[in-house]
Amino acid sequence: MRIVSAELDFDNEGTPFSRAYGDVYHSAESGPGQAQHVFVAGNDLPRRWAQARVFTILETGFGQGLNFLATWRQWRDDPARCERLHYVSIEKHPFDLAALAALHRRYPEFAALAVQLQDAWPPLVAGMHRLHFEDERLTLTLAFADAADAVPRLRLCADAIYLDGFAPRLNQEMWSPQLMQQIARLARSGTTVATYSSAALVRQGLEAAGFAVEKCAGFGRKRDMLRGSYAPRAPQPAASGRRERHAIVIGAGIAGAAVSERLARRGWRIDLIESRTLPPADAPPKYAGVFHPHVSIDDCILSRAARNGFLYALRRWRALERSGQALTWARCGVLQLAGESRSESRMIAAIAAQGFPAEFAQYLERSAAETHAGCGLPSGGWWFAGAGWMRPLSLIAAQLAAAGPALRAQFGVRVERIARSGERWQALAADGRLIAAAPVLVLANSNDMARLAPVAQPLQSIRGQVSYMPGSALTPPRIVLTGEGYVLPSTDGFVVTGSTYDRGNDDPEPQAQGHEANLARLAQLLPHTRVSADAATLEGAVGFRCAAPDHLPLVGAMPDVDAARLQKKRLSGAQVIDLPRRAGLYCASAYASRGLVWAALAGELLASLIEGEPLPLEADLADALDPGRFVLRQARRAML
Ligand SMILES: Cc1cc2nc3c(=O)[nH]c(=O)nc-3n(C[C@H](O)[C@H](O)[C@H](O)COP(=O)(O)OP(=O)(O)OC[C@H]3O[C@@H](n4cnc5c(N)ncnc54)[C@H](O)[C@@H]3O)c2cc1C
Ligand SMILES: C[S@@+](CC[C@H](N)C(=O)[O-])C[C@H]1O[C@@H](n2cnc3c(N)ncnc32)[C@H](O)[C@@H]1O
Repeated sequence: MRIVSAELDFDNEGTPFSRAYGDVYHSAESGPGQAQHVFVAGNDLPRRWAQARVFTILETGFGQGLNFLATWRQWRDDPARCERLHYVSIEKHPFDLAALAALHRRYPEFAALAVQLQDAWPPLVAGMHRLHFEDERLTLTLAFADAADAVPRLRLCADAIYLDGFAPRLNQEMWSPQLMQQIARLARSGTTVATYSSAALVRQGLEAAGFAVEKCAGFGRKRDMLRGSYAPRAPQPAASGRRERHAIVIGAGIAGAAVSERLARRGWRIDLIESRTLPPADAPPKYAGVFHPHVSIDDCILSRAARNGFLYALRRWRALERSGQALTWARCGVLQLAGESRSESRMIAAIAAQGFPAEFAQYLERSAAETHAGCGLPSGGWWFAGAGWMRPLSLIAAQLAAAGPALRAQFGVRVERIARSGERWQALAADGRLIAAAPVLVLANSNDMARLAPVAQPLQSIRGQVSYMPGSALTPPRIVLTGEGYVLPSTDGFVVTGSTYDRGNDDPEPQAQGHEANLARLAQLLPHTRVSADAATLEGAVGFRCAAPDHLPLVGAMPDVDAARLQKKRLSGAQVIDLPRRAGLYCASAYASRGLVWAALAGELLASLIEGEPLPLEADLADALDPGRFVLRQARRAML
């Protein structure tokens, strides 16, 4: 979906006003006053969150975020506040940063919080944006989308609901009975709802969806408002009790490190087990990888998920740095060149279809691209100004350090087998020794994952080789260039270029043939640059990507393939959510060629799933990454 930003405007009384909808953003008397009276007090806050460990608020219509800021301030000042507050809000027409900041200046009482919100404000691109505040105790998940599309795709259980669309007579779609039914799907017994509107349409819609609603005194000139609570007729299953928060994570690559850090930040104890030994501190590997979004004309599942992953990764990495961790990376910009597989005209059409802001992605003609690159190029391409390169090892080290003492890492220890014993998972060595035991186990061991637990689909191991060129061998670009291969700017006197895609080759050592292939790719990326390098003497590195057939990662609860086989008839018409699962067993794997884009989001997704928190991405995307998807596909085709 193309995001159309809101226009900053005011009515005759100076209240923020939308010309498109013909309505004000809040009561003329006071925006903060309305937020407090209608939404905070209307949901019986702060009293209700004091009884919870994690409390979730759902809002329709984020606007300028006054309700959010008022809730944040109230929560921050409350000594009896819940441990974590999730605020999930949907906005079809977000303000751009300049307009948001201009609006916020009108509410000095929120100044300190508003600057933090502005600092984290995402680019105006469709999808869900997860922002953390207050040392991650407050999480804002913003869906830039139409509520009619976004609400059915939310996966969360709301404790309180703020309904704040423009007036029902001016904007019926924000109050439709269908939307109220979808909102009720996210409620549980006792979930409260409040809105400034007392329109019959709203009251009837809420009641039909299962809320018991009452009128009460409104704010300012409004005589009445509505508040209510969810009172389902059918009994609901009781929420599961709190478990021991201890997990084993197998694999300390970028997948396992991110999962460990996300869980540790939520108070989990982590046993991280890694078969490799740590590289010596004085000789860290030179390898660096590239991160950038994916663009497609139809904004396919991969593009949507990768956009979320890319933007979330940037925020996490920035947060790691702010907390004092050192990362070796650069947001120097990435240019994805046009080529045989993607023509310039297709690239231009895709950008035009999505209407992305230039800060996120734009198409650059060759001459403009050359100005950024500082060298001659074969074509124009997509310019991702905020993208760049990262040394994964620095990221892993930063995440393990950020996880703190809750993490116990064992390097040089291989898990040969996993077993379930009572309520716990065991990680066992080749000699049968128990390495660790915990109620939750996360497989983040890439190509080795399917050996420990099947997903009913073989995963592909794809060898890749990068080459390290001495800086003297060429004048490198100032930015990252990608196309059929990639080349990075010079760092520490050498240039990383790659990479091969070798199926059916398991040689862990670099081969001259691989360097030759990389030099050929480099010549395509930089046809006007002289490169003096000999494939026989180049240095390099080899790794093995793990890829699922659809090239999407596997993140979530592991399917119970044997149980699914026994129920295959029932499952032929089922959804991913209906699959039998292996209790306490999860995976974060198969990141293929985009590990840097997936790792942070996948870590947050997995931690949210395990904790039962709102998901950081839409349900259809979570299902597309679900490790049970192959079991389901096979059940549907009677092939299980
Ligand atoms: C040549 C090459 C270039 C690439 N370039 C890029 C790029 O530019 N950008 C990008 O985003 N991605 C790139 N990738 C992909 C990226 O490297 C992967 O997506 C990423 O490494 C996946 O991370 P991971 O943690 O899942 O797997 P891994 O990095 O493989 O980590 C898995 C870890 O699990 C450990 N392990 C396995 N089995 C066991 C066991 N039984 N017990 C204990 N430990 C175990 C392994 O030792 C390993 O350390 C590239 C890959 C290659 C090969
Ligand atoms: C009254 S304002 C919300 C004020 C906001 N809660 C605040 O605290 O600043 C209503 C908001 O709903 C948004 N909106 C209108 N129709 C929408 C839709 N169909 N889906 C999502 N948001 C919508 C508008 O863009 C506007 O920002």
